[in-house]
Parts: sequence; C-alpha cells; structure tokens
Amino acid sequence: MTDKEAKYMEVLPQAASLLEGETDEVARMANLAALLHGAFGFWWTGFYRVMGDELVLGPFQGPVACMHIPYGRGVCGTAWQRGETVVVPDVEEFPGHIACSSESRSEIVVPVRRGGRVCAVLDIDSRELATFDDTDRHYLEIIVYNIFK
Ligand code: SME
Repeated sequence: MTDKEAKYMEVLPQAASLLEGETDEVARMANLAALLHGAFGFWWTGFYRVMGDELVLGPFQGPVACMHIPYGRGVCGTAWQRGETVVVPDVEEFPGHIACSSESRSEIVVPVRRGGRVCAVLDIDSRELATFDDTDRHYLEIIVYNIFK
C-alpha cells in the first residue's frame, strides 16, 4: 500500500464519523473540506454548488477563489458537464482552466450528485504538478459517492 493509500484509509472512517448524523449540506461540506485539506496539506480544497446555470463558491479551505463558474467552463464546469471526475496533471495543459490562484499546478474535480443530478463539485488544487492520480480519483469518489451522499 502506498503512503497515499494509507492516508486515505485513515481519512475514510474519519469522514464517515464526521458526517454521520449531520444533515446540513453546508456544514457537511465545510468539515469535509477541512478534513481533507488538513490530512493531505493540499493548496485549496472546497466545494462549488450548482446554482442555476453556474457553479457558486461554497465551503472551502485555502486562498480566496473565484465565486462563479459557468457550466462547461474550467475544470469544475467541465466535471459538472461530463458528470465525471476530471484529473488534471498540469493545469496549463487544460484548455479553459480558470486560474483562481497562479500557484495551482494540478487539480482534481469530483462531481457530487443528488437524485442523479450533479448538485456540486469537490475541487482540490495542488501547488505541485501531477499530484492527483487514479488513487485520488478512487478514494475521493468513495468519499463523495458513499460517505458524503
Ligand atoms: N481551477 C478551477 C477554478 C476553481 S479554483 O481552482 C479554486 C477551474 O478551472 O474550474
């Protein structure tokens, strides 16, 4: 098991107990963002929520960020449009990437679904290139689809 997998194995039960019994979506997003951010030391960790035809900034940890992202725009809007996780090893290679912070080098965005529709996205940024891979996709999808749901 890699160090990264071991860290996710620690975080999974923490996320489950943190969210258990809490029904308020903002409270859940806020604490899940804080848990992931603290455990892994990411540069930016947070949620954007679907509001009509755009994403609006939700609970997050890290530097200030753009507050509105149109459908299909940037990595977040693309993950919403595709309805699937998008892993970006180098943000400069992603057409239309929205640079909220010039420090961000790589990114992963996981859509959150409610009733079959994307209602939010979990967005995580790193200051290193190629931070995120299939291990992150796998465990973050477990967290978002099975624990956060
Ligand atoms: N880079 C994102 C915008 C959000 S910030 O990274 C927090 C994007 O291209 O959608």
